[in-house]
Amino acid sequence: MEEELLRLKSEATETLVACSNADELESFRVKYLGRKGLFTSVMRNLGNAPKEDRPRLGQLANTIKKDLEAAFTEKSEAVTQGQAGKAKSGDDDLTLPGRATPVGGLHPVTKVMEEICGVFERLGFTVAEGPDIESDFYNFEGLNIPKHHPARDMHDTFYISDNVLLRTHTSPMQVRTMEKSEPPLRMIAPGKVYRCDSDITHTPMFHQVEGFLVDKKVSFADLKGVLAVFIAKMFDENTAIRFRPSFFPFTEPSAEVDIACVICKGEGCRVCKQTGWLEILGAGMIDPEVFKKVGYDPEEYSGFAFGLGVERIAMLKYGITDIRLFYENDLRFLKQF
Ligand code: FA5
Repeated sequence: MEEELLRLKSEATETLVACSNADELESFRVKYLGRKGLFTSVMRNLGNAPKEDRPRLGQLANTIKKDLEAAFTEKSEAVTQGQAGKAKSGDDDLTLPGRATPVGGLHPVTKVMEEICGVFERLGFTVAEGPDIESDFYNFEGLNIPKHHPARDMHDTFYISDNVLLRTHTSPMQVRTMEKSEPPLRMIAPGKVYRCDSDITHTPMFHQVEGFLVDKKVSFADLKGVLAVFIAKMFDENTAIRFRPSFFPFTEPSAEVDIACVICKGEGCRVCKQTGWLEILGAGMIDPEVFKKVGYDPEEYSGFAFGLGVERIAMLKYGITDIRLFYENDLRFLKQF
């Protein structure tokens, strides 16, 4: 009986090696390993062997069966993978329905950013981008904010070293551009800016769009006209706006521009801190000191500049009450846009 077992083992092993597809494997399984297969019938005859040999023969039969089962599993996997590979290399079933590819969408801040830039581009502004990592000179000194000037406190700056920082606004692009080019200039500079600041209307990273126009005889009326057109295009034509006197070291006179809070319709809510207004941008006439630093003659040229907060505009457009929602990556929120 031992001989019979060993013969069956070598025959089964040879047959398994020769199997090359699922049908052959199934026949192998039925013939050798199945309930009515050859191994089962040999084991059934175990009772006919001498009593003292039965434990040893039983053990041998079990070991051989287990080894063959393991070899069968391994071979089945190899054959399945081989068939998948073959399908890849040309046997594809072109009649199968295609798999749908999930379609992503633009982030609401990107959408609003594109819309803002589109309005200014149609007004003839060109677009330029500057670096997020900025020098103290372009972020402050060149904008008439010397070291120890109190205006620096308002910026909550992330410093990388004494003279290198994450830009706190897009205004450095005014200096970078004016240094390189002669007036007339009409440009916007969109991008990320950073401040150590966080609450329902402030995030540590947010987006601004800087805009500036330099030419002969530019006046505050031009600034008001451009911003009024911009706000009418972005929001409803009838959206109330107000210019509030303000201070920036690089503009004189300066203003902050608010629009009526679209969330409470001006009645006062958590978002507008009960004022009915939400500040969306800072602006003003470019200070003669800035012109002097870039070599422009302030007697000959004048210009206006503004810097607007993109997330604030997105909040107002979509009625979002907490700016931090933009950056929590919650798909349930993001899928709505
Ligand atoms: C400035 O950053 C000036 N550079 C704007 C400017 C440009 C003035 C050119 C004059 C001429 P301010 O710090 O106010 O100004 O920021 C401008 C806008 O950015 C704000 O009106 C607001 O909409 C937005 N903003 C400011 N801080 C945050 C913040 N932490 N999170 C989100 N938005 C912010």
